[in-house]
Amino acid sequence: IMDCVKVEDGSALSRGDCRAKGGAPGFKVAIVGAAGGIGQPLAMLMKMNPLVSVLHLYDVVNAPGVTADISHMDTGAVVRGFLGQPQLESALTGIDLVIIPAGVPRKPGMTRDDLFKINAGIVRTICEGIAKACPKAIVNLISNPVNSTVPIAAEVFKKAGTYDPKRLLGVTMLDVVRANTFVAEVLGLDPREVDVPVVGGHAGVTILPLLSQVKPPCSFTKEETEYLTNRIQNGGTEVVEAKAGAGSATLSMAYAAVKFADACLRGLRGDAGVVECAFVASEVTELPFFATKVRLGRGGAEEIYQLGPLNEYERVGLEKAKTELAASIQKGVSFIKK
Ligand code: NAI
Repeated sequence: IMDCVKVEDGSALSRGDCRAKGGAPGFKVAIVGAAGGIGQPLAMLMKMNPLVSVLHLYDVVNAPGVTADISHMDTGAVVRGFLGQPQLESALTGIDLVIIPAGVPRKPGMTRDDLFKINAGIVRTICEGIAKACPKAIVNLISNPVNSTVPIAAEVFKKAGTYDPKRLLGVTMLDVVRANTFVAEVLGLDPREVDVPVVGGHAGVTILPLLSQVKPPCSFTKEETEYLTNRIQNGGTEVVEAKAGAGSATLSMAYAAVKFADACLRGLRGDAGVVECAFVASEVTELPFFATKVRLGRGGAEEIYQLGPLNEYERVGLEKAKTELAASIQKGVSFIKK
């Protein structure tokens, strides 16, 4: 019985894979949900990442097709495809970083919490697989509602006895990417020069951009602050409505996921000073999980930064964010504990 679909790159006539000789430098990465709207461009971008030596693409549909396609790219990473639940464990074995964009996306009129019913079960199954096959891997969880799926993953890992809070990261990078873009637009700057910390969580009012801490240092009028905060909080909905039933952000999300995954891999490699925002187990507030800047290292989120000074507008926003976040976290925890 094959444990991966036959479209692994290479042919019967191959004289051997140079990349296998002497162990090509780089990390082993798995994408779970690789055939989806996010998964496909994410797979393409990870195949282009020089830090990746092996790329496993898992999905419950169409993994062979996506794998065949991606495997023809003339970049270093070896690509293997895995289809369906019986191949989940093989897909995850030996993996350093698991990226999870599996599950249904929003349609117009839906909140991220409306996805809970379907995605909670999907995330549980995948995390049970991780606990068995690669308990030491770093996990980048994209599936929504992130505010609840990260607590679900934590409970699954606790049950399995494999939980390491530093290695479980909810991906909020798209909020930062959007914030950098929208703030740069208002300031008339190149978005690559702008750094906006976004804290809290990943849904509506829990997305809290700290405009008082933008780099380069700048100030905003009340009107600009309200416009930017609203646009950053509703960036996802902007895309859902524009796509009018055809899904949510996929291309900008794939970009953000790769930006975050690359930071995790640089951390794993031992690079100094790798800092990004993520939704992690945290003592920054009284809540058990919270998104802030974290320093990424060999062990995952090795250091979690404090919020720093907030202005009055942000203090009010923080209270609103915490109320909604507390309920979403609780919902995730009790899904496993009940
Ligand atoms: P999609 O429906 O296009 O793709 C999802 C993929 O997951 C499909 O290929 C599907 O077959 C697969 N899948 C379903 N059940 C699975 C299972 N048990 N194991 C493995 N794969 C499974 O959806 P899209 O647009 O790619 O979005 C995926 C998720 O990412 C959604 O939950 C969405 O809400 C979330 N998302 C998160 C963002 C963030 O900032 N964290 C931003 C945008 C979307």
